[in-house]
Amino acid sequence: MGDVLTTSRRPRARSGGAAPVIELEGAGKTYRTGSIEFEALRGIDLRIVEGEYVAVVGPSGSGKSTLMNVLGCLDTLTRGTYRLAGEDVSELDEVELAQIRNRHIGFVFQQFHLLPSLPAWRNVELPLVYGGVAPAERRERAHEALARVGLADRVGNRPGELSGGQQQRVAVARALVGDPALLLADEPTGNLDSVSTADVLGLLDELHGAGRTVVLITHEHDVAERAERVVRVTDGLVQHDGPSGRAAS
Ligand SMILES: Nc1ncnc2c1ncn2[C@@H]1O[C@H](COP(=O)(O)OP(=O)(O)O)[C@@H](O)[C@H]1O
Ligand SMILES: [Mg+2]
Repeated sequence: MGDVLTTSRRPRARSGGAAPVIELEGAGKTYRTGSIEFEALRGIDLRIVEGEYVAVVGPSGSGKSTLMNVLGCLDTLTRGTYRLAGEDVSELDEVELAQIRNRHIGFVFQQFHLLPSLPAWRNVELPLVYGGVAPAERRERAHEALARVGLADRVGNRPGELSGGQQQRVAVARALVGDPALLLADEPTGNLDSVSTADVLGLLDELHGAGRTVVLITHEHDVAERAERVVRVTDGLVQHDGPSGRAAS
């Protein structure tokens, strides 16, 4: 999997100069079900700069997935602002959000969300299909991305022919194929055994080492420890911890 280090993105200086990828100010999200309202995010300020590896932790129901959906432009805030890579996305419509997602964000979910009838490389090329990339280039980039995650010899296999860990690596390849500024992973190891968990976390470490901005959502403490910064979510609010063990100053 060493090829992953050839990934092109590199962080700028960690302190001071690094460009912000995520800027949330006073971010709030209220769900409405009939006449019932629930405030899932209650005013969050959060800044994540290029090249950071951040874990978002918190108990079930604390708002992690809501936050992930907002950060991933899968859902919008009901108050406050969200700037992604410098662009205010708070007021964009569905079509504009889809374009932003395609251009800037790679997703990895707990359920791998692969299409079972398609071979690995066809799954990986999908973001490029939506992005309007020509077929020959899609094929080449999908094969490259699979080689980067150590699956060069599995490009033609369907998801059902792969282990859970391999399927999640296909999902990581799909998240990377468009060279996004931000990799968002929501409980990416939640369905994996310990060997596959180590495998996928090792891959995220390598991607971070190569300069990717990674946001990992987890409720598992030992998974969160892999990141250089931990953001704790409790009842829709965040509490910022100092950098943990391996972090830069
Ligand atoms: N679509 C929704 N409609 C109403 N309430 C929701 C919806 N999605 C999540 N919630 C509520 O918002 C809170 C936060 O949920 P979620 O963000 O999924 O938390 P987590 O990922 O930390 O478990 C929970 O109380 C949940 O029941
Ligand atoms: Mg969740």
